[in-house]
Amino acid sequence: MAHNLLEGKRGIIFGALDENSIAWITAERIHEEGGTFVLTNAPIALRMGQIDQLAAKTASQVIPADATSVDDLQSLIEKSMEILGGKLDFVLHSIGMSVNVRKGRAYTDQNYDWTQKGLDVSAMSFHKVMQTLYKSDAMNEWGSIVALTYMAAQRVFPDYNDMADNKAFLESIARSFGYFFGRDKNVRVNTISQSPTPTTAGQGVKGFDGFIKYAEKMSPLGNATALDCANYTITLFSDLTRRVTLQNLYNDGGFSNMGVSDSVMEEFLDD
Ligand SMILES: NC(=O)c1ccc[n+]([C@@H]2O[C@H](COP(=O)([O-])OP(=O)(O)OC[C@H]3O[C@@H](n4cnc5c(N)ncnc54)[C@H](O)[C@@H]3O)[C@@H](O)[C@H]2O)c1
Repeated sequence: MAHNLLEGKRGIIFGALDENSIAWITAERIHEEGGTFVLTNAPIALRMGQIDQLAAKTASQVIPADATSVDDLQSLIEKSMEILGGKLDFVLHSIGMSVNVRKGRAYTDQNYDWTQKGLDVSAMSFHKVMQTLYKSDAMNEWGSIVALTYMAAQRVFPDYNDMADNKAFLESIARSFGYFFGRDKNVRVNTISQSPTPTTAGQGVKGFDGFIKYAEKMSPLGNATALDCANYTITLFSDLTRRVTLQNLYNDGGFSNMGVSDSVMEEFLDD
């Protein structure tokens, strides 16, 4: 159901790889709500993914950019403003990758070159995106910037590995940069802390299947889907949330405030 919440708004969407990606589903919803945007992803992901289908469906253009390269980001932002016909109202950072996770290295046995790479892609890239937007004065007043995160930034989930540290850094950058973006440009910056979701990045985490079932049983409303995340993001890009900023917002069916649920307890009761 569309409400025209983003009519006339322009933006950039990072991280749509395939139809399971949270950014993919968010792009479809933004299109339905009347927003226009440029899609971007790393050059290698553009070769492997199906982003052209999404571009055709949403009448948008695709510009390759490695989110760890400030030069790529500068050119992406300039070209996006040209294509869209003005400054931006929204930006979605939906990027995450850990080489240690991908290659099965334990948290206690990290390859630090890989740790550094994952930190750059998953967290520092958010600072780079915002600094480039800020210095180029590319955001309209009352614009909104959102990055996606996971609760392993606050609590221990052993197999989330170094991504937990990357997400803690990402959330801190949202607060720190959000201050300057708010003070100087009236732009808000938030992170959405999403339930486990079956995507390429999500399924890369060891034990993901058990993990998603556990979260489902623990959450009074069940896990939030990619579509739920897209809908929440729409509200943050809309004019209905103008003074929500510097927040880490849980979209997780209640999981983050649970101790234990009846259905999890049942697994441990004596017969
Ligand atoms: N899936 C989950 O369980 C879950 C839960 C909470 C938060 N998140 C977060 O949601 C976001 C989106 O992930 P997803 O689950 O949709 O998976 P996904 O694999 O579909 O998306 C991750 C994206 O990051 C992109 N990327 C990687 N390196 C890049 C680079 N150098 N430059 C630009 N883009 C790059 C990938 O190409 C891909 O499109 C991530 O931040 C992820 O950590 C996911």
